[in-house]
Amino acid sequence: MMDVPARVAPARVFIQDVAMRDGLQAEAVFVPTDDKVAFVDALSRTGLAKIEVTSFTSPKAIPMLADADEVMRRIERVPGVEYTVLVPNVRGVERALAAPPDEFNLVMSCSETHNLANLRMTRAGSVAQLLEVIRLSTEARVPANVSLSCSFGCPMEGEVPATTVLDFAATFLDAGARGVTLCDTTGMAYPSQVAGLCRDFRARFPQAMLTLHVHNTRGMGLANALAALHAGVDRFDASLGGLGGCPYAPGATGNVCTEDLVHMLVLEGRATGIDLPELLDCARRLGVLVGHELPGQVVKAGQRLDLHPVPASVAQARARAAAGTSAPAAA
Ligand code: COA
Ligand code: ZN
Repeated sequence: MMDVPARVAPARVFIQDVAMRDGLQAEAVFVPTDDKVAFVDALSRTGLAKIEVTSFTSPKAIPMLADADEVMRRIERVPGVEYTVLVPNVRGVERALAAPPDEFNLVMSCSETHNLANLRMTRAGSVAQLLEVIRLSTEARVPANVSLSCSFGCPMEGEVPATTVLDFAATFLDAGARGVTLCDTTGMAYPSQVAGLCRDFRARFPQAMLTLHVHNTRGMGLANALAALHAGVDRFDASLGGLGGCPYAPGATGNVCTEDLVHMLVLEGRATGIDLPELLDCARRLGVLVGHELPGQVVKAGQRLDLHPVPASVAQARARAAAGTSAPAAA
């Protein structure tokens, strides 16, 4: 008798929502702290693997997230969900340790010009700060992840060499970071480029946690995510409703939309642990919270098999077909 191979369930894909940080920081009207806390609490019940709750940056640079300390103190921590926060410097870590997150997400850009615009430091200055941040986070037993902006191109400098990106990754992984996020900050990535860099990353750092963070600026967000999935990536940042855009990147738009990404992954037979109807409810709520329509598409179109009512004309056409008569000629 032939052995029938056991069906192996595909491994989970980890979805990490960044709407409350990457999304909100581009919004013009301040979202009240109570609403942020309630929204994170609702997101915590959708099955997301990780939520980027806020950022401990200078309140002058990002006034929307000036309430990071209070938000982190007040959210309800649901077991199984990781709560991460963005920190640009040592000051950010010191503030965040009052209500320790499950991870520090450090940020710097692979492009010198973008780093100067976004963080007002040279890349060498950022590396020095972030190495100190990793040292502090190791001491505090909070794991660190480093998000490398402009990993697939810079809107001011153009191409960013893959070796530059991988060398920055090596610097931080060697210093003790547990993972790296390759960020397509301004939607310059394309599928074969994404697959290539993700494969090179995996080959060079097989033990590191790798996340892909793409923006949909040129409509390639889902295509890039799919290319990464096929290259073996199992962690994705995405933003509910597609909210977002870096304030220092000209023409930037939101991240790939979380619910659209999850909808695609479900159709592709991949497990995310997410309750999609619950997530879609949150996406509708987010539109109300920020007071404008969001780019997410499944919220508007419904899921693939959400069927529409059959128009009355179909019954008439069926009846005519059964009777063998043809439709009346149009006037
Ligand atoms: N939290 C709170 N305040 C901070 C801070 C932090 N993490 N880091 C710096 N500050 C304050 C300083 O105390 C200082 O305040 P003061 O003017 O009242 O004295 C002011 O910010 C400037 O500090 P400085 O060290 O000179 O920093 P900077 O002006 O060069 O700014 C950053 C550097 C990184 C702190 C700032 O540019 C920033 O927060 N940028 C946000 C980047 C970001 O999140 N971009 C989007 C995500 S990719
Ligand atoms: Zn981003």
